[in-house]
Amino acid sequence: MLSSALLRASRSTRTRRIVEGVPLTRKVVDRFIAGEHTADAVRATLDLARSHRSVTIDFLGEDVYDAVGAHRTREAYLALVGALVQAGAGRGTDLSLKLSALGLSIPRDGDAIATEHAHAICATAEGHGFTVTLDMEDHTTVDATLMVGAKLRTEFEFVGNVLQSNLRRTHGDIEQLRDSRARLRIVKGAYREPESVAHQSKADVDSAYLRDISALMASTCYPMVATHDPGMLGHAVVAARSSGKDDRSWETQMLYGIRTDLQGETIDAGRQVRVYIPFGTDWYGYFMRRLAERPANVAFFLRALTSS
Ligand code: FDA
Repeated sequence: MLSSALLRASRSTRTRRIVEGVPLTRKVVDRFIAGEHTADAVRATLDLARSHRSVTIDFLGEDVYDAVGAHRTREAYLALVGALVQAGAGRGTDLSLKLSALGLSIPRDGDAIATEHAHAICATAEGHGFTVTLDMEDHTTVDATLMVGAKLRTEFEFVGNVLQSNLRRTHGDIEQLRDSRARLRIVKGAYREPESVAHQSKADVDSAYLRDISALMASTCYPMVATHDPGMLGHAVVAARSSGKDDRSWETQMLYGIRTDLQGETIDAGRQVRVYIPFGTDWYGYFMRRLAERPANVAFFLRALTSS
């Protein structure tokens, strides 16, 4: 209930104004976000590298409906690549792109605009040994996002897609890609979706996630298992072993500031961990989805607001 209300609020302009207007919100937001500027993302990348964690970086923003905004997102990524290279943090770094921030939602030619911007980012990324992953947004964007991913992979094989186990279609999408070399991030799914397209209960999502992890491990793809759920990670380890995948043939991913203890334990066990670093000023949607995932975060938020 609370989680649905928060996901609904993540799309509400009115709630956005209220949440952003509370000065103490920042204190809580900082737990999940590296900072507002490119330099903050670079600093977080270097910090995490010291503890053997690689990163994927998200310039915060989504649902951009104008060409100027979409172009601004592209420029922010190009500036980020430049800053990372200058800081010696290029090779092996991944960029997480949201196609809606690159113009996918612009009426009529949104697909073409987003593809062109993503292509420009990939071309620059390629020259410096970066990889790119297309984040997955709500179910209305899945076909377009998979199509753009497939198109980009014909030129840049390092482009990855994300699949969400809460969606009923996902097992079929894995089947379509199972003989490819695609980098595929598998997540439980962060968006509020209708019953017609998505499992609604946690138990159903969890069992779909277990099945999807096994299917990915048995494929020729490069699995990126993105979760903070130790049970799911344990399953991934067993499924990788029984499919003959060694610890370099797949990776675990977690969000910045979440379960850092589990990140450390995974590294200590000799497995690869990549941390998803969000940065920028447009943090509202991302922040609300993190609150929705865990009621305790809401309590933390409310405590921060009342303890001033
Ligand atoms: P679950 O929600 O069951 O949580 C398991 C445990 O993890 C909790 O008990 C708690 O300990 C901890 N935890 C989880 N979320 C927390 C939070 N917000 N704060 C504190 N603790 C928390 N989704 C999507 O739709 N499209 C995408 O492209 C991506 N991309 C992505 C990248 C990466 C690297 C990650 C880790 C996740 C995503 N997601 C995503 C989000 C994903 O769909 C999902 O909503 C979250 O990962 C939470 O689900 P868990 O698998 O962690 O399990």
